[in-house]
Amino acid sequence: VLISPLWNPLPHPVPVSNLSPLDCILCIQQEFALTKTEESDLKEENGKESVAEDDLDPEDLEVFYPTYQWQTVRPGQAVPAGLHVRLNLQTGEREARLPDNKNEKSDMKYQKKRKRLDEMHIDSNSFTAQELKEALAKMKEKEKTESTMEEKANLEDVRQRFRPIEELKKEFEELNMKIETDLEVMVKLINKFNSSTSTLDEKVAALYDLEYYVHQVDNAKDFLSLGGLQLVINGLNSTEPVLKEHAAFVLGAALSSNPRVQVEAIEGGALQKLLVILATEQPLAVKKKALFALSSMLRHFPYAQLQFLKLGGLHVLRNLFKEKGMETLYIRIVTLLYDLIVEKMLLEDSENKEDQLEEKVQQYKQVNLVPAVVEQGWCGIISNLLALPEHDTREKVLKTVRILMAACRDKYQGDYALNTTLSMLRIEYEELAAEEQREGDNDGYFKELLSSINTIIQELRSGYL
Ligand SMILES: *[C@@H]1O[C@H](CO)[C@@H](O)[C@H](O)[C@H]1NC(C)=O
Ligand SMILES: *[C@@H]1O[C@H](CO)[C@@H](O)[C@H](O)[C@H]1NC(C)=O
Ligand SMILES: *[C@@H]1O[C@H](CO)[C@@H](O)[C@H](O)[C@H]1NC(C)=O
Repeated sequence: VLISPLWNPLPHPVPVSNLSPLDCILCIQQEFALTKTEESDLKEENGKESVAEDDLDPEDLEVFYPTYQWQTVRPGQAVPAGLHVRLNLQTGEREARLPDNKNEKSDMKYQKKRKRLDEMHIDSNSFTAQELKEALAKMKEKEKTESTMEEKANLEDVRQRFRPIEELKKEFEELNMKIETDLEVMVKLINKFNSSTSTLDEKVAALYDLEYYVHQVDNAKDFLSLGGLQLVINGLNSTEPVLKEHAAFVLGAALSSNPRVQVEAIEGGALQKLLVILATEQPLAVKKKALFALSSMLRHFPYAQLQFLKLGGLHVLRNLFKEKGMETLYIRIVTLLYDLIVEKMLLEDSENKEDQLEEKVQQYKQVNLVPAVVEQGWCGIISNLLALPEHDTREKVLKTVRILMAACRDKYQGDYALNTTLSMLRIEYEELAAEEQREGDNDGYFKELLSSINTIIQELRSGYL
């Protein structure tokens, strides 16, 4: 075993056995001094640092950590899905921030369940697998450096480096035990759900708990291996609406940014079953969860998007706009379409020329979502939603109208109702933005909405010239 060069004061690695703990306390002290000089060297060479930034290696890919403020997304940074992303036309840079949740209903129970993931500073729901892998690698790296730092500072920890192998083994076993616990719980839950002796309530409770576990990527993979995924897919055509609802919920959670589950689920017939739920008469709660699962299925999965278009999925979604009582689904549907369109756009202008991405670009090329959206009359369906009263809803609709502008311009220019709505919205947001400014908020939410509206109005007018 060689001692890590990081804390080795000598030019060459030295076998651990040749150093006593006391030697290493010394070497650590020297290491500290060394680190300091290296850091100040780095600061002096500021120019070098920025060059390194432009010259990104795929392995250096970073995850963008969003806040509620707009932040520039640097080339190569992985942007979690579900963020507000905009292109700053002045700088040509992409910017992103967390969506403003102030108007969104939050399900407390759900939030609590998600806490464990949030504590890891990672929301598996909003990353692609690649992004997640990178984030995890980064986290591990960080953990490593953090623990190294602590060990440096602590004599006790230094001693632990010389623990007998038996002790280490024991620790690993304990670690493995912990990993097995999730698996064991999932086995029990799957059996509960699958058992013919379980009551309906017990089955629902089992699904409810499973939803929590399958959020984690590794758990979702185990869920797949245990046969749970197929059981849940079969549950989508149960005769009990409440089972359908919870089956869709578990499926959506397992699918989220988990390519392996996405592939297995589409092969297991999940897409057709979800579309059947959405196309037939079902309680709103069932359709809501089915739409959630469908969204998780389609995001970052061009193959599924293509199948969705082929199976007439866009028609199915459009028909929901004709159904009474489905209003709460409207904005979710528009958000899904927006995300899918943006996802393709961002990939197309991505500068990363990895082979894997190249293949993805080819797949996305076959997904002709925007032409289908225009052809099937979505331009008007979407812009009509500007009449809804919630700011949050309007914000999403405005964003969608903007990205569809090139494709829908002809329709929008002849749309008298849209013309009226935009004029009214402009007046409303001029007032709100002014108020916001009086309160000292110069970069406020309403100002942003107003600027969105003005941009759309301008783009429509410029077409007249
Ligand atoms: C579900 O139950 C059936 C019948 O008891 C059994 O054959 C099957 O293996 C079970 N599936 C899973 C995933 O446990
Ligand atoms: C759902 O449909 C599949 C076939 O598509 C069938 O094998 C399964 O038994 C059905 N499940 C229920 C609960 O009806
Ligand atoms: C609405 O139409 C009128 C002409 O009918 C035009 O003058 C006005 O600029 C339009 N408004 C918008 C927001 O496009």
